[in-house]
Amino acid sequence: MKGVMLNTLFRRFASRPLRSAAAAAALLCAAQPALAQQVHQLITMGDLSSGYNREVFWMSIGAIILSVLIFVGTSYALFHSVRTYREDRNDAPPAQFHGNNRLEVTLVAVPVVIVIVLALLTVRAMARLNPTPTGAYPVNAVGAQFYWNFEYPNAAVNQAAGTGLVTNGNELIVPAKSKIAVTITARDVIHAFWAPNLGGQRDAIPSVKKTWQVDNDQPGVYQGLCSVLCGASHANMRFKVITLPETEYQQFISAAQNYKAPTPAAGSAAEAGYTIFMQGKDGSGACAACHRVQGTAAAGQSGPDLSFFGSRRTLGAGMWEGADVDTHLHQWIKASSSIKPGSLMPHYDGTTQGYPALTDEEINSVEAYIKSLQLPAQGNYWTKIAALKPDAPVPAAQSQTPVTATLGGN
Ligand code: CUA
Repeated sequence: MKGVMLNTLFRRFASRPLRSAAAAAALLCAAQPALAQQVHQLITMGDLSSGYNREVFWMSIGAIILSVLIFVGTSYALFHSVRTYREDRNDAPPAQFHGNNRLEVTLVAVPVVIVIVLALLTVRAMARLNPTPTGAYPVNAVGAQFYWNFEYPNAAVNQAAGTGLVTNGNELIVPAKSKIAVTITARDVIHAFWAPNLGGQRDAIPSVKKTWQVDNDQPGVYQGLCSVLCGASHANMRFKVITLPETEYQQFISAAQNYKAPTPAAGSAAEAGYTIFMQGKDGSGACAACHRVQGTAAAGQSGPDLSFFGSRRTLGAGMWEGADVDTHLHQWIKASSSIKPGSLMPHYDGTTQGYPALTDEEINSVEAYIKSLQLPAQGNYWTKIAALKPDAPVPAAQSQTPVTATLGGN
């Protein structure tokens, strides 16, 4: 009853802007749980489970305390003088202190000291954050229009499985509670690597390599993004950081080092897709020219690494995730730039010169092949994080579809 009465009152008296503001607030509240489920984690530099963010936070607190003291001090001096030296209380001409050396030196010295203290706070934080700590875990991040490749320089692929370094596109898996030394660079234009919950951002510049330390103590899923305008899909150049406890992390990395892409079963759709992936159609448009798949002849470097595509949760550098990946994968292969502005992948509908038009069935078979590229269960980082964190996203939708392939390697 009370609710109805309030509601009536509200309708009668609330002005229209007030009502629309209330409606917007209600909508925001209603959207909140869905948002939380989708985003998994609040994207914030205020995440103090990161040592990097803690350092910046305490430096800011120091600066804020100093600023408050200065504000209170100057306000006091101002109001005190206004009150004490009002004209109606003081008929006599005020005391003259022009040329008072002691006063002038003080008025210059105090701000100089303030600036020095603020600078020292900043320099101290920089000195702690800039050098790469010994024992930091190394990762290479390569930005390109419009995706990321993450390589593990100290995790070479086991000889029996393939060559090169363990690499994953757009999903970075790192140990929690460790400092991560990310060596950042770019392939084409300037990008910037930023996972706010793990620390500060750093430009990714072609032919320049910069190492940056980030960390987060809490196992979880964190959002990353490109934070320098780099082209049409700058906003669609996202990545995920999955931080796992040491044991789970080691299981992932060892599974990845021993991973050899599964060989599709004879006569399966995946096998037809494998042939198109490796050789193209009528001798042109092989996916392998741009994409690497560990343990196969595909060693292309100009597109994101697809070795574990079937275990990933995202498509198009974070544009879609979970079940949405399945919805958009077909159109993605057919004409990626029709759904992601500026995507550089050639179209497979006959509109890109030199690339074949694939039939829907052929595209389905390519889908079947890349979905079959799955890490073994002990390496599936999405399952691991879901087991640890009830609020983590469920493992990739595509990894739940049965695989029509036999494991080739291990
Ligand atoms: Cu890459 Cu913005």
